Amino acid sequence: MIDAPDIQVTDLRQRYGDHEAVAGISFEVRAGELYALLGTNGAGKTTTLETLEGHRRAHSGTVRVLGHDPYQQRAAVRPRMGIMLQEGGFFGDLTVAETVTHWRGFTPAPRPAAQVLDLVGLAEQAGVRTRQLSGGQKRRLDLALALLGRPAVLFLDEPTTGMDPEARHATWKVVRDLVADGTTVLLTTHYLEEAEHLADRLAIMHRGRIQVTGTVAEVLAGHGDRISFRVPDRVPVAELPALAGNVADIAVEGGRAVATYTVPDTGLQAGLYALLRWADEHGLALEGLQARSASLEDVFLRTAEGVGR
Ligand SMILES: Nc1ncnc2c1ncn2[C@@H]1O[C@H](COP(=O)(O)OP(=O)(O)OP(=O)(O)O)[C@@H](O)[C@H]1O
Ligand SMILES: [Mg+2]
Repeated sequence: MIDAPDIQVTDLRQRYGDHEAVAGISFEVRAGELYALLGTNGAGKTTTLETLEGHRRAHSGTVRVLGHDPYQQRAAVRPRMGIMLQEGGFFGDLTVAETVTHWRGFTPAPRPAAQVLDLVGLAEQAGVRTRQLSGGQKRRLDLALALLGRPAVLFLDEPTTGMDPEARHATWKVVRDLVADGTTVLLTTHYLEEAEHLADRLAIMHRGRIQVTGTVAEVLAGHGDRISFRVPDRVPVAELPALAGNVADIAVEGGRAVATYTVPDTGLQAGLYALLRWADEHGLALEGLQARSASLEDVFLRTAEGVGR
């Protein structure tokens, strides 16, 4: 028998008054998998997480975590979840170590305080009052608290917001190690690079709906490749060639016009060949010439524009 997924969401809807914040989404996260929810501000990611964490009853549809309804059967499942809210809150007068000790009191079989602080890189701040922590350090403390109970399922709502690049990479390593140890993770982020690094599968949400889902490769497939270069000064934009039947999008970057073509995945080589021949015939040097596959950012922006696939 195939094990039931650790997280299962089926046609979930959530409303705030008249506003439908989550408009019928379905997805599942298998044991030991990391699933990333991406999406525009207000897309419904936090609302979805709060429902799975048992903080909100589903308006309609069903959610299951480790086979339980997290709202109705909270006591059964809450001890096995680790939760990092989008906005945590601490008692500002307590030190970092006191905060962890306080939380250990509510956590069955907690990790040692020193171990979690070491894990998130806060050992040196153990004696600092939480109100004196920087934004990124507060996120690390939030993560430490989420990890205290060695959760089977971890919910991380924008875990690395406000972290410097080094802290972000360190956090990615912590999360990757947890996943390697079998922890199931549902994470939201606005850092697309984070999803590319960590996610086994991801979904992009917009206005309460999942617009696209799959592995990174599946999400990128069909979105074409990109060819771009700075438009030479003496070339009017109207005289740029079409490549594989596609005209250029023009953007201004650093005061210079940059042409970007989206060509079908199979058209990159032919498009490049046509472009180089055109440049050669006109005696032009193409500065900043790049050829690349579509990025998650390209797909995200298209989704946010409502273009979809
Ligand atoms: N407590 C609330 N009361 C009323 N409306 C809310 C409440 N919380 C969220 N909303 C609305 O529901 C929608 C979804 O919000 P949600 O916080 O789930 O989005 P999100 O995808 O997490 O966004 P962000 O990326 O900005 O964190 C938004 O339109 C938001 O204004
Ligand atoms: Mg949110």
